[in-house]
Amino acid sequence: MEQQKINIALDGPAGAGKSTIAKQLAQKLDILYLDTGAMYRALGLKAKKCGVDPKDRAKVEALLPDTRVDVIYQNGQMRVELDGENVEPAIRTQEMGMYASAVAAHPGVREYLVELQRKIALENDLVLDGRDIGTCVLPDTRYKFFITASLEERARRRFAELVQKGEKSESFEAVKAAMAQRDKADAEREFSPLSCADDAEVVDTTEMDIDEVVDFLIEAIDTRRHQA
Ligand code: DC
Repeated sequence: MEQQKINIALDGPAGAGKSTIAKQLAQKLDILYLDTGAMYRALGLKAKKCGVDPKDRAKVEALLPDTRVDVIYQNGQMRVELDGENVEPAIRTQEMGMYASAVAAHPGVREYLVELQRKIALENDLVLDGRDIGTCVLPDTRYKFFITASLEERARRRFAELVQKGEKSESFEAVKAAMAQRDKADAEREFSPLSCADDAEVVDTTEMDIDEVVDFLIEAIDTRRHQA
């Protein structure tokens, strides 16, 4: 019988460093990384391209039968394609984060992407980052972590990232307010809200750097592996 795949769930709010941590963790463990947020961002982009209000459940769900989201791995690197087109870096803007958060609230969207995520997880050893991996996508995995940090610190990191990318069109306060708004929407939505699974370990990264978090996770994963 084929051995069950190792699936490591990293959930948490925006800007907690999940994607950087997940990428490095996957590299160290020599397994793949699945950025589930990128999949919601791709559907957010689809809504934008079609001129559909991302909050309009009926209209967004009506786009799904004619939409393809593919996750492609090339040399261990993941990319998302929307209707056969590479959507990096178009999905990496603040605006697409808000679009993603809005379309992610619709149950049809979640059903569509969760099914795809489960299929990928069944076939690959993975580190997955998202909002609902431990609670909904893979509730049976034994490796669950909730990565968080204070709002101030998360906004500071996101702002530094925007400055680095030369996208600093907003003030720090505006970035922080947008982040708080997205956290609220993600945590308060009706279907699969952002929440910490009962059996997840909470990792507060406010005062940790990326290497410290990755080392901490490797040890915690090892401990969980040896627990029956
Ligand atoms: O991780 P991210 O910032 O790329 O995610 C963008 C949005 O997508 C986020 O605000 C909420 C949504 N999302 C979700 O609902 N479930 C996931 N597993 C991943 C992301």
